[in-house]
Amino acid sequence: MSTGSVICVIAIFLVCAIYSREIPLSDDNNRLYSVLASGQGLYANDSKVFVLNATNFRSSVYNTKNSWLVEFYNSWCGHCQRFAPVWKSFAADIYGWKSVVKIAAIDCAADDNNPLCREYEIMHYPALKFFPAGANIGHMGVEIEKHENANELRHSILEILKKEQIEGRGSSWPNVTPYRSNDVQNLWKYAPDSVQFTILIFEDTDSDVATQVILDLNHVKDVQIRTVLNQNEALVKLIGVLKFPSIVVLQRDLAVNHLKIIENSREAFREAIKSFLKSRNIIVAEDDINDFKKPVLNEPAEMQGVGVRHLDDVVYQVDLENTIQYSLKNEIPIHKLITGDALQALKNYLNVLAKYFPFGETGVKFLKKLHEKVEDIFEIKGEQFYKYVEQFESELKPVFMSTDGWIGCKGSRPRYRGYPCGLWTTFHMLTTNAVIEEGHKKTFDRLEVLNAVLGYVTYFFGCHDCSQHFQEMARKSMYANVTGPDESILWLWSAHNQANKRLAGDMTEDPQHPKVQFPTRESCPACRSSDGRWVKKQVLIFLKQMYSKKNISHMKVSNDDLPEIPVPEPHASDVSVVTVQKKRLGWNFNIFDISLCVVLYFCSAVILILVFVKFIVRKRYRKKMYIHDILGKV
Ligand SMILES: Cc1cc2nc3c(=O)[nH]c(=O)nc-3n(C[C@H](O)[C@H](O)[C@H](O)COP(=O)(O)OP(=O)(O)OC[C@H]3O[C@@H](n4cnc5c(N)ncnc54)[C@H](O)[C@@H]3O)c2cc1C
Ligand SMILES: *[C@@H]1O[C@H](CO)[C@@H](O)[C@H](O)[C@H]1NC(C)=O
Ligand SMILES: *[C@@H]1O[C@H](CO)[C@@H](O)[C@H](O)[C@H]1NC(C)=O
Repeated sequence: MSTGSVICVIAIFLVCAIYSREIPLSDDNNRLYSVLASGQGLYANDSKVFVLNATNFRSSVYNTKNSWLVEFYNSWCGHCQRFAPVWKSFAADIYGWKSVVKIAAIDCAADDNNPLCREYEIMHYPALKFFPAGANIGHMGVEIEKHENANELRHSILEILKKEQIEGRGSSWPNVTPYRSNDVQNLWKYAPDSVQFTILIFEDTDSDVATQVILDLNHVKDVQIRTVLNQNEALVKLIGVLKFPSIVVLQRDLAVNHLKIIENSREAFREAIKSFLKSRNIIVAEDDINDFKKPVLNEPAEMQGVGVRHLDDVVYQVDLENTIQYSLKNEIPIHKLITGDALQALKNYLNVLAKYFPFGETGVKFLKKLHEKVEDIFEIKGEQFYKYVEQFESELKPVFMSTDGWIGCKGSRPRYRGYPCGLWTTFHMLTTNAVIEEGHKKTFDRLEVLNAVLGYVTYFFGCHDCSQHFQEMARKSMYANVTGPDESILWLWSAHNQANKRLAGDMTEDPQHPKVQFPTRESCPACRSSDGRWVKKQVLIFLKQMYSKKNISHMKVSNDDLPEIPVPEPHASDVSVVTVQKKRLGWNFNIFDISLCVVLYFCSAVILILVFVKFIVRKRYRKKMYIHDILGKV
């Protein structure tokens, strides 16, 4: 080989080395979370829900003529995912009311929004907060009850809007309070000149259909609509209303028209009013009213068909680290002040992490420092805790593997799996390794890890529903069933299977990862007897293999380019589980890197030869050469 090609090969290797070097995480902490959060906003494709974030929240919500109803949610929380279609259809249903109330959502799982959610003291998801018209910065919003469907939500917001107006807010809105006087002249007193018709909808006290129609038609400048309740007997008599509901049109010259309505519904009322207006040459555009189109539930095309692997029995270090990073940097700091039982839960959690999390020396030091910081205090602000995490991480860096995304907990779409999956995995890993490492000791506390897990789930896990279910299970059986070290592993396994059973077929289920009783027959044939009952001894062996530190895979994922996952051989029936840990090559090369180098090497070798031939041949003949001449000679 000539010196030129030697230099070239060296250069290629340098390029490869640079290519495979890790990008330090601490340079941009948000990068990891952008994966947790990116594309997971549940309303990214919805045009009727206003998507708020830390940047636009205050400028949107405060000092506006309309009020706001904001859903604070968490994109990975199953409860929020189930609620999202309700929120979307509610937003679509009352989109026409946006000059009165806007429906919005903010994702507290997004790293940037986290401090804001902390400030607004969002302790469970989803949380709905109402911000009145003209509210000043600093208004915390009024929490309102979450309902199971759009109709109930609509009913509830109507009550609020009426109350708002009675209390003097929302002066720019159409009047949604019932007309209580019998003075017809008075109705025109404040009506703008554009108003040609005053429409009175007479209805029973317990109906709010009229109010909906007022809001639906709030943009029609030619009319003003008011509700009159059946209690207003004087006016009922004066106008000659005989039944409820009734719609009556008054003109400035006091001419009265009774409209015909087919049924007592929002649509029928609107139709009646619209066809009356049409007879007076006033056309109300259909689209102006609101949009009853069903909300789009389909994922955008580019999200579909994201690669999925069916390898549920491998635990990845990346997933464990993503999980505790999210927990330490998001879920814990979101609390304004951590005291009392919550602080004790935090201490217990950090204690078991420091003892059993599969970290090297630096990582363990990081966890120990955090634990020491909270060990002897009585309270800590969430913000302060976050600062400690940042401080120790930058002092000791790198603490975490520099990588993005999930491997084992990767969903077929961004909204599936992720953090909750990582949390279960971490919990199983903790119970298992505590027993593997310390279970034989006399002093071993069989409830140490489970209590820490329960405390974390109770006080910090952002999925309120999950937390309730888990606490319930713990109350029922944890103390009774966990009679020894191994039982702590089995209790969590059984609790997780109960959750799987409950959630099977649920809309949060990733179709590519159905909720099954774990481990499956294929993964562990020996775990079930011939009549289908669990053989707990075998289950225990299986779990200890799967979650053991020595079998954790250190494989990484670099951005979108997912390396191949080693496929373990099927488990033998004696459950001598194959070790699936992927050995890393020096310099962190993976197969892809190597093949790239080889390809590059051959390409450059060919180019070199061509160049070489070209020069030699030119020197010799000093005549014009063509590329086919060169190729012909090679
Ligand atoms: C404490 C807790 C309580 C939850 N409660 C609810 C709830 O009430 N409602 C709700 O909607 N969602 C709940 N979730 C979320 C839900 O259980 C799943 O985590 C989420 O739907 C993602 O599911 P997944 O398919 O990724 O698998 P997950 O159920 O998260 O499982 C993760 C991995 O653990 C392994 N695994 C599965 N089952 C077992 C087992 N029995 N023992 C050991 N390993 C197992 C598998 O490898 C699996 O891939 C809860 C989560 C946690 C952490
Ligand atoms: C917040 O939302 C606005 C409008 O949707 C967008 O322009 C902006 O980039 C977002 N900011 C962040 C930090 O995501
Ligand atoms: C607790 O023990 C009972 C009785 O053996 C069993 O039915 C139940 O499934 C166990 N629960 C858990 C969560 O382990």
